[in-house]
Amino acid sequence: MKDAQGREIKYLRISVTDRCNLRCKYCMPNGIECVEHKDILSFEEIRQIAECGAKLGITKIRLTGGEPLARKGCPQLIRMLKEIPGIEKMAMTTNGTLVRAILPQLVEAGLDEINISLDTLDAEKFAAITGQNLLPEVLLAIDAALAAGLKVKVNAVSMPDTDWKCLISLAKDKPVDVRFIELMPIGAGRRSEGRSNEELLEEIRREFPQLQADEKVHGAGPAVYYQIPGYQGSIGLISAMHGKFCGSCNRIRLTSTGFLKTCLCYEDGTDLRKILRGERVQQESVSGCAKGSRTRTVQSGVSGTENKELLDAMARAIYGKPAE
Ligand code: GTP
Ligand code: 5AD
Ligand code: SF4
Repeated sequence: MKDAQGREIKYLRISVTDRCNLRCKYCMPNGIECVEHKDILSFEEIRQIAECGAKLGITKIRLTGGEPLARKGCPQLIRMLKEIPGIEKMAMTTNGTLVRAILPQLVEAGLDEINISLDTLDAEKFAAITGQNLLPEVLLAIDAALAAGLKVKVNAVSMPDTDWKCLISLAKDKPVDVRFIELMPIGAGRRSEGRSNEELLEEIRREFPQLQADEKVHGAGPAVYYQIPGYQGSIGLISAMHGKFCGSCNRIRLTSTGFLKTCLCYEDGTDLRKILRGERVQQESVSGCAKGSRTRTVQSGVSGTENKELLDAMARAIYGKPAE
């Protein structure tokens, strides 16, 4: 099935939490306003959405955050999603600080790929960017993930002072793709503080004139890859600000509170939680409140697998028409 722009949507990114144990300067330096647990989708609700997604052509799911591993039970969720017919690949984007402790369970549950955010190999700079002294743990997580057989990519947000030569050396010694992301005006990111990948590519080319385009498929995302002969991993550029990849965009996004977004740049989306928890909202009187009686919302859930309303809402959001 193709969307109105003729794009095939195969990739679903699911944010399982907005919380994170780090405080990256360009993301959430002061933390975030915490969403109440009841407003976050349950694993069962996520499963139902993913099941409808699979019926609509989704084959790959990535868990993201915040920091996905800040939410308990990720291995269980991965297992639930990998069991859905049609879901071939499970991936995760993480800051790497909580990976090692739970890695065997993640792999056993069916995780295939992991993208680890790492902006510098300098311990002091790492602490200045993230607010935590955890560079050694992230480096150990990369090695552990490789040893466990996962496909590993490193994501570095590219700033004017990013030591890209140092980061690229990771790809020399290990089968890890190192990708540079242009700073986006999301979270605390201010576009003016970032650096264009075009400029970075010129610098890389000057240092490595033997750099060549890498046509191999590395993932399902918007990165463009290059290869330095002799390096085990590739160099990826995610030109989130200057790249024109909307035409080949193949993903949809589910927020932790259940909104389905067809573009990263849209503020709102389709409220799937409302559908999952039932339109049949009743008003019930609650007595004993100091301010007198007030009303309370009682939600009656829609039962699981034959959720045609959910399927249609998703099909409409993605393809502009109900499911066939
Ligand atoms: P794979 O290629 O499968 O590894 O996936 P990915 O690159 O989409 O995954 P990841 O979560 O590592 O994404 C890396 C970064 O790419 C994100 O943090 C964004 O900065 C950027 N990105 C991903 N999808 C989009 C998109 O649709 N639009 C824009 N502008 N940026 C995106
Ligand atoms: N601009 C670009 N990338 C960002 N990330 C977080 N905030 C921003 C931003 N404002 C990156 C993280 C992680 C990926 C999921 O998104 O570093 O690698
Ligand atoms: Fe956490 Fe990632 Fe944001 Fe850093 S960029 S604070 S690791 S969610």
